[in-house]
Amino acid sequence: MKEAKLICLQSGKEYPADMPLWCSEEGSVLDLHFSPRFPLERIGKRPKTLWRYWEALPIEHPSSVVSLSEGATPMHDIELEGKALKVKIEYMNPTGSFKDRGTAVLVSKLKEWGVRRVVEDSSGNAGASLAAYCAKAGIACDIFVPADTSPAKITQIKLYGAKVHLVKGTRDEVAQVAYSFAQQYHYASHVWHPFFFQGTKTFAYEVCEQLHWQAPDTVVVPAGNGSLLIGCYLGFRELKQAGIISKMPKLIGVQAKNCAPLYEAFVRGEAFIQPRPAKKTLAEGMAVNNPLRGTQMLQYVELSKGKFIAVEETEIVEMVKILARKGYFVEPTCAAVIAGARRYLLQEAEEGETIVSVLTSTGLKAVDTIQKIIH
Ligand SMILES: Cc1ncc(COP(=O)(O)O)c(C=O)c1O
Repeated sequence: MKEAKLICLQSGKEYPADMPLWCSEEGSVLDLHFSPRFPLERIGKRPKTLWRYWEALPIEHPSSVVSLSEGATPMHDIELEGKALKVKIEYMNPTGSFKDRGTAVLVSKLKEWGVRRVVEDSSGNAGASLAAYCAKAGIACDIFVPADTSPAKITQIKLYGAKVHLVKGTRDEVAQVAYSFAQQYHYASHVWHPFFFQGTKTFAYEVCEQLHWQAPDTVVVPAGNGSLLIGCYLGFRELKQAGIISKMPKLIGVQAKNCAPLYEAFVRGEAFIQPRPAKKTLAEGMAVNNPLRGTQMLQYVELSKGKFIAVEETEIVEMVKILARKGYFVEPTCAAVIAGARRYLLQEAEEGETIVSVLTSTGLKAVDTIQKIIH
């Protein structure tokens, strides 16, 4: 048995992890407490998917695993502004984005629990990912997305067999509609669900493994709802607690200036977000005005001695082009993260600092938008 329990972030109440729960009785967010193990020699010999970290993943039975061979993405060295940056090519995951890490572990747990129908809201990529893994697992799913989501993402979700609900409104309003619908079905939300982060944490494991089990100095990740940022914190913390790495890297969360509640709270020195009407941004995947786990994200970034960076729309457009000229065709949300990394490189990076960032998603998901911005 892998010992795991769910804990309500509000009340501290504990729940066993063997029943399908995505929130506490009070309706608050849950975290998973779990003691991972890292048999490094065995890990190194296993097939190259995230399932090679089996003892660190809270799934009981190998027969529950729903996999499309996610994880084990390459990490490339690139140069920006004459400085070195390592980027993990997460668009090489099965549905074209990093979300597959979280979804693979979540859907495996859903299968283990016997869940038959799920609901999710998304800016598109998490929805496409969930739809794919649910197709593989034979789980029915309803995905709620903003009506102006990139058409490629909507097509992808539909083709995997999920029911798509287009909602007119902001990303936060879409989440509210899905939340109401989820009173009837299991809410497989990549924001609420504690098991999603158990998959995204493998990003941190892989970064360290690719650095010969050393921690980088700094990791630059997106900060929308925080599925990668929170996963990174958990993953690095677990490795540190296991004595495999000796320090926590600084976590830098990148937002688009047009929708930057975390950056603004960080600059004000506050532990809480003050949501206010956001402007539209090309970074549709990060357009989250009131992230559910915002306080947790602020806390984790603070604990890692990191910071938040907010980038302008012009920097996003410029970075789509810069990355393409290096051979990387990415969607604007992904370019926004590297625009944040560029700012960090220019303004703060020290000589010899190991800095890792991420290409979260392929440009093929947002060709329409890219066509409009590239002239
Ligand atoms: C391509 C891409 N990058 C980054 C993000 C931001 O991730 P998160 O909201 O988990 O912080 C998303 C979210 O959907 C995304 O689709």
